[in-house]
Amino acid sequence: MSGRIIDGTALARRIRQEVKEQVDAFRRDAGRVPGLAVVLVGDDPASQVYVRTKERACGEVGIRSQRHHLPGDATQKEVLELVEGLGKDDTVDGILVQLPLPRGLDPQPILHAVPPAKDVDGFHPYNLGRLTESGEGIHPCTAAGVMELIRSTGVEIEGKRAVVIGRSTIVGKPTALLLLHANATVTVCHSRTADLAAHVREADIVVAAVGRPRFVRGDWIKPGAVVIDVGINRLDDGKLCGDVDFEGAKDVAGYITPVPGGVGPMTVAMLMRNTLAAARARG
Ligand code: GUN
Repeated sequence: MSGRIIDGTALARRIRQEVKEQVDAFRRDAGRVPGLAVVLVGDDPASQVYVRTKERACGEVGIRSQRHHLPGDATQKEVLELVEGLGKDDTVDGILVQLPLPRGLDPQPILHAVPPAKDVDGFHPYNLGRLTESGEGIHPCTAAGVMELIRSTGVEIEGKRAVVIGRSTIVGKPTALLLLHANATVTVCHSRTADLAAHVREADIVVAAVGRPRFVRGDWIKPGAVVIDVGINRLDDGKLCGDVDFEGAKDVAGYITPVPGGVGPMTVAMLMRNTLAAARARG
């Protein structure tokens, strides 16, 4: 069997186009455009690239973005005051604090300072709580993108065995919860899991979010499985690769996402959707 490659770039483009049409309608109805505030602290090169990509997407769909860039030695108080100010700013519908924050800053109080209604990353405990309780609230962008990619295959999720590798609050845990709400039987694996390969071999759906290049081997994949690779790892030669050995897995999987061009663009598209939803909810 030769796996079909899921084109995340094309799917993300279609979603951005939908969001753009809905932003146009919102502007006509509400007489304003949705606004996203992006908080970037320090000069991490990868974070700068991600922030630029998000701002470009905002421009494309008609969302007004504003960047708030603080130096890497900004204090906890300074970041908190900035976020609290944006929380009160009526022109701001969504607030995104780009992670990771520089060492020395505690991300939790900062993420908790984002009002849940403006929490377009879905990282506030209120939104994570709603996700746990009922699957509602604002969903973290990458997890939401993973679900769209799985749904795009047409493969039924209900009743399937899903293995999520990684237990971060940003990706692993919310993805596991969304799969659970879609009635998959979900196993969450992590760095301490014994015999990871055995778990993956049973999985009809594999979501890899470990942050280790080509960690999931092709011969672990169950024939026909849907494989979603969240990893973005830079190799010594400068090339990007995922957490899955793509070459080894692509002929075994039923469907597989590439890196780049899989999950990455979907995360950004979901941020656009979440920002529009936050603007609509605020009116
Ligand atoms: N850093 C890595 N992924 C993300 C994300 O989805 N949102 C934010 N804010 N920071 C990140």
